[in-house]
Amino acid sequence: MAENPHEKTLAALGVTRADEVRPLFQDLFARAASELEAASSAEQFEKFRVQWLGRKSGVLTLATDNWLKRATPELKPTVGQELNKCKAQLESLMEARRAAIESGADASRAARDRVDLSLPGVSRPVGSRHLVRQVLEEIEDIFVAIGFSVVEGPEIETPYYNFEALNIPEFHPVRDDMDTFYVEAQSGSGLLTAPGSLLLRTHTSPVQIHTMEKQKPPVRVIVPGKVYRRDNPDATHSFVFHQIEGLAVDTDITFCDFTGTIEFFVKQYFGPGVRTRFRPSYFPFTEPSVEFDVSCIFCGGSGTGPGGATCSKCKGAGWIELFGAGMVDPAVYGFVDYDAKRLSGFAFGMGMDRLAMLKYGIDDIQVLFQNDVRFLGQFP
Ligand code: FA5
Repeated sequence: MAENPHEKTLAALGVTRADEVRPLFQDLFARAASELEAASSAEQFEKFRVQWLGRKSGVLTLATDNWLKRATPELKPTVGQELNKCKAQLESLMEARRAAIESGADASRAARDRVDLSLPGVSRPVGSRHLVRQVLEEIEDIFVAIGFSVVEGPEIETPYYNFEALNIPEFHPVRDDMDTFYVEAQSGSGLLTAPGSLLLRTHTSPVQIHTMEKQKPPVRVIVPGKVYRRDNPDATHSFVFHQIEGLAVDTDITFCDFTGTIEFFVKQYFGPGVRTRFRPSYFPFTEPSVEFDVSCIFCGGSGTGPGGATCSKCKGAGWIELFGAGMVDPAVYGFVDYDAKRLSGFAFGMGMDRLAMLKYGIDDIQVLFQNDVRFLGQFP
């Protein structure tokens, strides 16, 4: 038999009798069935379909053109019948093959996607609270235990809250130390705010004013938060750092309440063996103002380090400066409509980063802001 009999007419193939037609189609079908059997993917199946059923030059199209259309009138009915039979058989065989290929692909996809519960899991390292956050929570707990509540305030302030209402008028020299980053913001109408009308707060003290504006005495609050100063970074200075403000105002608050509260805090935070002292200082919004010191945590207040050398932390002084504080200056009450004759109170502002450094023996404040997990991982 010729290699591609469907490309030749029946006459060219020497088929002249009806009984010679059926074997011709049987051979054709057998060839199709064996090629179809070899098609094992959707791509191969499609190639087979085009090759055999393609409308222009598919094998069955050519068989229709060469065998049926050009058959003699005597052979035409038999060729027609056999062609239809062959087509129907081939279509049903192809349908079965298509289903087999699809289910095979599904099965292999399912095998690929199956979850193997016996495999070890993917472990993702869990982060921890930043050291400054841990210290903040520890300080909050100490003050909450003695009746303080926690409030927060805006980091972008007006000069009024950051300076004026704290008794720091526009040309007061103390502003030089605290001058900061002024910012411009767009208002609702799209206009920029006037230069110098907004700034990143330099301390948490403005929240004293916000709190007293909102709340009648008695007031007992602590205010944690970020503050900003145009300080050059070094081992103890950062241009963004954290403070925690304290404010207590009532009718009968004395300097003893003030020092007792601070003493309680320091002993809770550093331990009962630590001593405190205060020295006169100056803040425009407290009168009198003090600077609180603690006995050096590293040398126990002796001023002497290992091997009899001068303690490198307190430089031999035996004391470490901790934070500024004082009794609220009566002038401040005037800005918030509090009765200065009837009321008294105290305020303090601690640097949280430095408190963390002291407690955990950290030499350089910058490590608190560098987010190096090798450092942070030491404080899980
Ligand atoms: C103040 O900011 C006052 N508002 C504190 C205060 C509040 C006084 C209420 C009286 C009443 P001072 O500028 O000293 O004070 O800052 C307070 C603390 O912030 C310092 O003791 C120090 O621990 C920390 N601090 C100051 N500047 C920096 C800085 N650049 N980087 C890190 N910590 C700083």
